[in-house]
Amino acid sequence: MELNLDPGYYTDPTVFVREREGLLSHTWQLLGPASRVADPGQYVSEDIAGIKVLVLRGRDGVLRAFRNVCRHRGAQLVERGCGSLRLIRCPYHNWSYDTDGALKHAPWFGEDPDFDPAEWPLESIAVETWRGLLFVAISPDVSLEQQLGDTIDELADVSMEDCQHAEQTRLTFDANWKIYTDNFVEGYHIPGIHPKFYASIDFEQFQTSAANNLVRMTAPPREGLFYQGRWYWMWPNWTLSLFNGGINTSRINPLGPGRTELIYDFYFRDLSEAQADARADTIARNLEVVREDFGICLETHNNYASGGYQPGPLSPRHEAGVAWFQQRYRDSIADAG
Ligand code: FES
Ligand SMILES: [Fe+2]
Repeated sequence: MELNLDPGYYTDPTVFVREREGLLSHTWQLLGPASRVADPGQYVSEDIAGIKVLVLRGRDGVLRAFRNVCRHRGAQLVERGCGSLRLIRCPYHNWSYDTDGALKHAPWFGEDPDFDPAEWPLESIAVETWRGLLFVAISPDVSLEQQLGDTIDELADVSMEDCQHAEQTRLTFDANWKIYTDNFVEGYHIPGIHPKFYASIDFEQFQTSAANNLVRMTAPPREGLFYQGRWYWMWPNWTLSLFNGGINTSRINPLGPGRTELIYDFYFRDLSEAQADARADTIARNLEVVREDFGICLETHNNYASGGYQPGPLSPRHEAGVAWFQQRYRDSIADAG
C-alpha cells in the first residue's frame, strides 16, 4: 500500500529552500511560448520559486538566458514580463549590459586597476525551445529531451506548432505547490470538486498512468465538454491539456511553502476575430475548473500545517500519478541532501 507524503514536506520552510536549490534549480522550467523571444531584442523576465531569470534574443540573433541579477550589488535588472529592449540597464546605479550579457558601461565607478568590465558579464543559464515552448534551467542535471521523457512520444500526434499563443493568466492561492500537484495528477476528486466536469466525462473509464516523467490522464468526453479528454502533467511542475481548438500549458511555481502561483498559457489554432468569443469562453471554462481546486487545496494545506494529519493510503485505481510524483520527489529531495 502506498501512503501519502509526510505533511512536513508541505509546510516546512527549510524544505522549500531545499526544493529551490536541489530540485527547481536543477530541472528545466517552462517559460511559456517561444514566440515571445522570436526577434532580436525580445525578452521574457520570469520567476522560478523566487529565482529571477531573463531570456533574451540578442541583437546577433542568438537566444540566451541569464540570471536577472546585476553583477554590481544584485539588483533586479528587468521587471517581470515580456517585451523588447536594446540594452539592459540596471535601475540601481545605471550599469548597462549588452544583449549578449557583456557589461558595457559602469558609469561614475571611478578608477580601480583591478576592475575589468570583461570579468563581470551577466551570469548565464541554460535555455532551450521544444515545439514552440520555451524552457530554462539554472543548472540542469539532464538534457531537456531526457527530462521530457515519455512526453515526446505522447504529444507526437498533437499539432502544437499550428497553435498560436493567445493569452497568459496568473493565478495565486495559499497552499503548497505539491498539494496542488497531488491534486492535478489524479481524477479521483472530479466527482467531489468538479460536478459539471464530472457530468461531462465518462468517469467510470477515467484512466491514469505514470512513467518516465509523465502522468497521463484520459477519459472519454461526453457531448458539450470543451476538453478533449487528455490531460498531462510533466515532472517536476508543468501541465498540458488538450481542448477543442487548441492547448493550454501551465507552470506550477512555488512562491513559498504556503503560497503557489499558476502561470497558464492558452494557444489556439484559430486566432481570427470571428472566433474571439469562442476563445474567451474556452479560457473562462478552463479557468473555472482550475479555480474550483483552490479551496480544497487550501484547507488540506491547513490540515497538514496543523499537525492533525497522518499520511493516509493512496488509491491504486486513481492515485498512481500521486504515488509516482511523490516517489520521484522523495528521491530528488533525498539526493539534494
Ligand atoms: S546593483 Fe546594478 S548597478 Fe548597482
Ligand atoms: Fe481539479
